[in-house]
Amino acid sequence: MGIIIKTPEQIEGIRKSSQLAGNTLKMIEGFIKEGVTTEYLDNIIEQYMRDNGAIPATLGYHGYPKSSCISLNEVVCHGIPSQNTILKEGDIFNIDVTTILNGYYGDTSKMFSIGEISAKAINLIETTKHCLNLGIAQVKPGNRVGNIGFVISRYAKSKGYTVVYEFCGHGCGVEFHEDPQIEHIARQNTGPIMQPGMTFTIEPMINEGKSRTRVDKADGWTARTIDNKLSAQFEHTVLVTETGVEVLTDVDGEYPFI
Ligand code: MF3
Ligand code: CO
Ligand code: CO
Repeated sequence: MGIIIKTPEQIEGIRKSSQLAGNTLKMIEGFIKEGVTTEYLDNIIEQYMRDNGAIPATLGYHGYPKSSCISLNEVVCHGIPSQNTILKEGDIFNIDVTTILNGYYGDTSKMFSIGEISAKAINLIETTKHCLNLGIAQVKPGNRVGNIGFVISRYAKSKGYTVVYEFCGHGCGVEFHEDPQIEHIARQNTGPIMQPGMTFTIEPMINEGKSRTRVDKADGWTARTIDNKLSAQFEHTVLVTETGVEVLTDVDGEYPFI
């Protein structure tokens, strides 16, 4: 397939879709509370995307049945929203949303929690967010993609955690999953050289225990840690600019343009 260098027109489309994806996560925060089901949140997410002229990219993607992924506690990714999954005190979970707006994709996810959560869970979530931020700081023209995974894995290991290697970030924008793969464990100065106009996701999944995952046989999607210990994830879609990085899915002004 090859890495797609986006035109200014494509970049503007991807930026708009990415902002809508970011705003979808912002919107859903107000509906998260103990006792609601993940299907209830998924329905609100779908309606919000459609009200804003977009389509949920996951719906029907390789047969995936829902408009978001909601992955609780030991679920690493691709948790399917369900009327049987009821949020309870102490849960930590990732909500992952991808929009298609005017044909362009924006992909982002973050962690949420219910009520009081353990110190261990807080530490895992903070470490994972920092892993994403370290990865983003590597995005600049001329740098190699492998340096993203290099800094992420070095930091996660220093905190006693493991990095999931069975799922990766990916080129994203004119397709859902484009080249290149963005590995979250990688050797220094390996992989493709970043160029202005590349857009891709960084989405580290960090585990409390073993790094291996197992996909649920019954539904074919839900990926869990093999030891049932906690996992956390954050994701942004980024653009390589002439001078550095623009975090396209950031709607909080958290990342300055560089
Ligand atoms: N949004 C996920 C990602 O970050 C992909 C979900 S694909 C699905 O790449 F089919 F599981 F929804
Ligand atoms: Co992604
Ligand atoms: Co995603």
